[in-house]
Amino acid sequence: MTRRTMVCALALSVVIWLGGMLLTAQEAKPAAAQAAAKAGERIALPAAAREGGMALHEALARRRSIREYTDKVLSERELGQLLWAAQGVNRPDGHRTAPSAMARYPLELYVATPSGFFHYEPREHQLERRGGDLRPAISKAARGQKQIMLSPAVFVFTAVFERMGAKPDDPRAARWIYAEAGHAAQNLLLEAVALGLGGVPMGGFDDKQLQENLSLPADHRPVYMVPVGQPR
Ligand SMILES: Cc1cc2nc3c(=O)[nH]c(=O)nc-3n(C[C@H](O)[C@H](O)[C@H](O)COP(=O)(O)O)c2cc1C
Repeated sequence: MTRRTMVCALALSVVIWLGGMLLTAQEAKPAAAQAAAKAGERIALPAAAREGGMALHEALARRRSIREYTDKVLSERELGQLLWAAQGVNRPDGHRTAPSAMARYPLELYVATPSGFFHYEPREHQLERRGGDLRPAISKAARGQKQIMLSPAVFVFTAVFERMGAKPDDPRAARWIYAEAGHAAQNLLLEAVALGLGGVPMGGFDDKQLQENLSLPADHRPVYMVPVGQPR
């Protein structure tokens, strides 16, 4: 082999080795961390399963409040399934898995995970990144209730009261919104059971502090919260 051929062969092996290293690094990065590099970035979620799974009566029989979780981080498939159960679109007309008074859909759903704080966009079934890991900020607004920091996915239900179109002093708007948050949260809790996970509905937080700590839009008022994880 001539000196020139040897140099060429060496250069080629370096290029192949570097390429391999780059590919391995890409694969090794968790998908959510890769996708969640920039605020405002959209992350497409895997299509939610609509068939199969645990029977509803079994999920009902197993449901209980779970406040302690293992270290397991939820996969994008699990996150997508839970978000879809709570507020996903399940028909071509854009209507959702949870009922809504006059189909006004006042709820806006967020999820706080170790890889970031995200807003769920039901129509596109995708996440919009809003910030980093905000679970400590949520914990502060919830008097340090331990399940928040233990949970790998804290779902925060907010509502746009103005979307109901009722007059500001019309008590029906609030009644409808709280009923709807209950429907959506129960969907989420039962889906968690069906996936072998567990959660707890939470109303014990300071609304104003939570809204500020999460830098939520002024009209997205927190109404309910559900930390989820793999039961310990
Ligand atoms: C509106 C509402 C608010 C709740 N808030 C909290 C809370 O802030 N923290 C908590 O640990 N559990 C909270 N829970 C869960 C209840 O404590 C729990 O559902 C109750 O003890 C019954 O237990 P089970 O869910 O296991 O059947 C709340 C439940 C509801 C319905």
